[in-house]
Amino acid sequence: MPKNASAVTKQKPVTVSVIKADIGGYVGHSASHPEILALARKWLAKAKSAGTIADFHVSACGDDLELVMTHWMGNDAKVIHGLAWDVFSKGTELAKKLKLYGAGQDMLADAFSGNVKGMGPGVAEMTFVERRSEPIVVFCGDKCAPGAWNFPLYKMFADPFNTIGLVIDPSMHEGFKFEVHDIHGGRDIFLSCPEEMYDLLCLIGSPENYIIKNVYTKKGEIAAASSTQKLALIAGKYVGKDDPVCIVRGQSGLPAIGEILEPFSFPHIVSGWMRGSHYGPLMPVSVAQATPSRFDGPPRVIALGFQVNDGALVGPRDMFDDPSFDLARQQANEIGEMLRRHGPFEPHRLGLKDMEYTTLPQVLDKLVGKSKK
Ligand code: F6R
Ligand code: MG
Ligand code: MG
Repeated sequence: MPKNASAVTKQKPVTVSVIKADIGGYVGHSASHPEILALARKWLAKAKSAGTIADFHVSACGDDLELVMTHWMGNDAKVIHGLAWDVFSKGTELAKKLKLYGAGQDMLADAFSGNVKGMGPGVAEMTFVERRSEPIVVFCGDKCAPGAWNFPLYKMFADPFNTIGLVIDPSMHEGFKFEVHDIHGGRDIFLSCPEEMYDLLCLIGSPENYIIKNVYTKKGEIAAASSTQKLALIAGKYVGKDDPVCIVRGQSGLPAIGEILEPFSFPHIVSGWMRGSHYGPLMPVSVAQATPSRFDGPPRVIALGFQVNDGALVGPRDMFDDPSFDLARQQANEIGEMLRRHGPFEPHRLGLKDMEYTTLPQVLDKLVGKSKK
């Protein structure tokens, strides 16, 4: 790609909205039913014909229905969020009819109120002016928490051992800015790398508490956006794992697509897996293999690659459907086996603090009468 590839060719900013929800599993929590996917495609095709959205792609990672949409209405557009809510509502009706497992699980509100954030579904969105060529990767996870992207986003945008462009490409050499969401403090913190790399790691090394929300170039151009919604904090109790999504733009002054995928060659350990209560390796898989079965896992991630062309989603390419990720899958199985052998013991099971939103406290309550001073 020539160096001037970042030259702007389309002035109208396009928005990529990835909105997802678990509205019912098939079988158990392992996958999405083909009729649910067909329903979502039908509804979004209608919205495309009506001109509401420019383009769409419907996918699934485990029991999560993933809606990838492009449009011209910007982030947090009521029309787009309402469209996703309608698809999830219709899908819930069908899931109930099919008696799918956990039908309507992530639909935590009774009625749509303008924005799906805080209502159950997960959202990652970004708005940008398309470059001459606009490659993006949409990551979707299942059986994991939103902090699952901290490690790979750090590697992509701040670690020269992952992204050689940070060292040898003058257009990336100055580094990137990170916006970190403090889940419990309800605030966002901005840190610039490489200057504040150690400060960044102080926070994001604790992915249950701090989540990378966005990454920007030093000039303020959006480079990555992730979903940061925590279902348990919305519902106040365990209602399934958050199973996050993330959008990353690549090439020409941003990490190359290969540098964006590279962090997933190491199946880092995330919280989630069975009952959202265990640590397990994040296994990079093809869309066809995104059907967690062993102990409801191990956690999965898929990578959908698109070229965005005047709002059209050219693709996807199933980026982890590649033998170069076989070793990561093998290692994930080995790490998974090692952790599984711990059974109900930590550190396979989450620490007590992170178990607060699971069903464990109800069991512990029963022990109260049995204690003696
Ligand atoms: C993990 C997940 C599953 C369920 C498990 C028990 O995110 O959704 O591991 O937690 O299958 O489900 P219930 O309690 O519905 O029988
Ligand atoms: Mg489920
Ligand atoms: Mg799920």
